Amino acid sequence: QVADSLYILNSFAQQYFSKVLLEDEEGQAVGLSYLKERGFTESIIRKFQIGYCKESRNAFVTEALGKQYNRELLVKSGLAAVRNEELVDNYRGRIIFPVHNTTGKVIGFGARIIKKNDKAPKYINTPENEIYIKSRILYGMYFARQVIDKFDECLLVEGYTDVTSLHQAGIENVVASGGTSLTTDQIRLVRKYTNNLTIIYDGDAAGVKAALRGLDMALEEGLNVKLVLIPDKEDPDSYVNKVGTDAFRQFVADNKKDFILFQLEVALKDAGSDSQKKAAVVNQIAETLSRINKTEDFTRQQDYIRQCAELLKIEETGFTNLVNKFIRE
Ligand code: UTP
Ligand code: MN
Ligand code: MN
Ligand code: MN
Ligand code: MN
Repeated sequence: QVADSLYILNSFAQQYFSKVLLEDEEGQAVGLSYLKERGFTESIIRKFQIGYCKESRNAFVTEALGKQYNRELLVKSGLAAVRNEELVDNYRGRIIFPVHNTTGKVIGFGARIIKKNDKAPKYINTPENEIYIKSRILYGMYFARQVIDKFDECLLVEGYTDVTSLHQAGIENVVASGGTSLTTDQIRLVRKYTNNLTIIYDGDAAGVKAALRGLDMALEEGLNVKLVLIPDKEDPDSYVNKVGTDAFRQFVADNKKDFILFQLEVALKDAGSDSQKKAAVVNQIAETLSRINKTEDFTRQQDYIRQCAELLKIEETGFTNLVNKFIRE
């Protein structure tokens, strides 16, 4: 019941914000020109149903109340906020990225600030409600799922604009996690379409950390995970705009690393010649490998054991036993 009302309200809001972006004077002067400056075409803006919320205190709220949408629902949807007992627009002066579920219904929004401001967050996202359940959402899945299925690979990036820019560049098997580490539900959503996940994050420490946190779960769910780190100070959006589609594809192909081997390399570099640290690394990687679903993927596990033992410079049989010990625990 509430869910249905939220779908209807979100659809109304999406259409309203799109119309403002494309037809309203402020929408064009502020919103559309910002997006065009960033290189987005009108065709990609229409495809992703991107919109704009005016700077006015309550332009959208007024419109919605006029259509008899109720106040409680407006707050629950995150579209409005209560200020001094009055309802005001929550996304004032922001670019609106609708978030769709896999059937194409709008379940929420990401609202990006245009004018830089130290106090305000860059993005405001829809709060959790009956239909917007963050842990289950991958931005862009509605537009990507058929292409993911076709190429048997899902690219995972951090943000809204990474998804839209890659689409515009013709790379359409891409979804975003919102910068946080993956949840089991998100991994299961990917697995409906493919077993191959390629994480393309910025090379900064936060990006790598967020990516690593999802690994164990991804393995347990039987995903093959690859990692590509985008050069310093760039993200997939800025990088594809800088170098173009072909060079971007080439970069991904040349820099795709197996996630487990990548994790091991990082850990070994960190341990240096400290033998205690190295022993900890051996244990940690054995535990990771134990998570590969053995009955389903015995050869894959053995391949990893061989490659990791080689990198660790330890004997394979002993290492296999250690991995098996973790499986029994
Ligand atoms: P980024 O800071 O990398 O932003 O956050 P971005 O995606 O590159 O956006 P542009 O290109 O500057 O417009 C990555 C993602 O993390 C989430 C959003 O999903 C964002 O796309 N995020 C970031 C938030 O939810 N809130 C924030 O304040 C910042
Ligand atoms: Mn498939
Ligand atoms: Mn980052
Ligand atoms: Mn980014
Ligand atoms: Mn960006």
